[in-house]
Amino acid sequence: MIKPHGSDSLIPLFVMDAVERANLIKESESIPSVVISSAAAANAVMMGGGYFNPLKGYMNIADAMCVAEDMKTTNGIFWPVPILNLLRDASAIKDAKRIALRDPNVDGNPVIAIQDVEAIEEISDDQMKIMTEKVFRTTDNAHPGSKAFNSVGKFAVSGPIQVLNFSYFETDFPDTFRTAYQIRRDMEKLGWEKVVAFQTRNPMHRAHEELCRMAYERLEADGILIHMLLGKLKVGDIPADVRDACIRKMVEVYFPPNKVLVTGYGFDMLYAGPREAVLHAIFRQNCGCTHLIVGRDHAGVGSYYGAFDAQAIFKEEVHAEALQIEIFEADHTAYSKKLNKVVMMRDYPDHTKDDYVNLSGTKVRDMLSKGEDLPVEFSRPEVAKILMEYYISLND
Ligand code: ADX
Repeated sequence: MIKPHGSDSLIPLFVMDAVERANLIKESESIPSVVISSAAAANAVMMGGGYFNPLKGYMNIADAMCVAEDMKTTNGIFWPVPILNLLRDASAIKDAKRIALRDPNVDGNPVIAIQDVEAIEEISDDQMKIMTEKVFRTTDNAHPGSKAFNSVGKFAVSGPIQVLNFSYFETDFPDTFRTAYQIRRDMEKLGWEKVVAFQTRNPMHRAHEELCRMAYERLEADGILIHMLLGKLKVGDIPADVRDACIRKMVEVYFPPNKVLVTGYGFDMLYAGPREAVLHAIFRQNCGCTHLIVGRDHAGVGSYYGAFDAQAIFKEEVHAEALQIEIFEADHTAYSKKLNKVVMMRDYPDHTKDDYVNLSGTKVRDMLSKGEDLPVEFSRPEVAKILMEYYISLND
């Protein structure tokens, strides 16, 4: 099986031993504690599950700046996005060596992790600006990722962590949330060697479905890992439970049994386009996948990134030895009215724009909330039905 990023075996930061975990929970009651941001909690969930292997905890400013500018930590680990624990106010943990991190997303703010504090540093406005510009390619506050990154505080608490739970993901998505460690183990049991991962934050329409099928067939893969984001999204995006139901139905009806794993991970969407695509590749390698599909406007939002910038970054900025996982580059995919099937546009240069069925997200939402069926060329009827029920429930 493909090795994880940066080490021979995967080392999740979740404390697996129940007794040790119970002792740490007890300890957490007597040490200073702080409620962290949703982004920092999501980072803890990702580190707990082995997705962010080989990181051991939150970065300090030097590492975060180095990652933002050169995509590597100060000791040379290839990494595309700063992994920070940013606080607005660090006075409650001043001088503390060990602190309990409280989860902002669960009632009562239970402790999600314990951190050894190596430093508490204030990030300057200039440093914040450089990181934002490098990671998001914009400092526009209308960009949801840039806005979120700049709204959680400037005190960076760095140091290793021990993770005690997986926040709300395990309880809210018991069938879908999986750690990288579990996925690796599941794929090993299935005997899968060549596995293609599909990142998604959307319900899967026919273009998505066909992208998975094309990648699977062209790569002659053993299986497909459909891996959906379960964390926070921007307003207007479809909630994870609805997407999960759509995807499960689509796989059940339209894919052969035992070839697809439908799974999810607990992370808030960054909308960082190319840099997030690189992060996506790292954590799919940590899951044991050999390939990641990167298509049109991967992890993008609005018009901040070019349609294929997330493919270009792998050729232009990711050096050859940085990662073992490979990218399956997908061109714009849509239903061809001429051929009566979903195709990749680069494969049919004779087609014009009008030969394809193309619906904007706005049009799709509009049709569904009025109870109008989506064209079967665009969406499987079983998927459209679930979405329609959701949109109609919003009108109530
Ligand atoms: S993402 O933010 O998670 O990337 P989305 O769920 O829409 O968004 O896309 C999942 C993957 O499918 C990404 O790799 C994206 O580039 C690709 N993709 C989505 N729609 C198309 C399409 N019509 N043509 C080509 N690639 C697509």
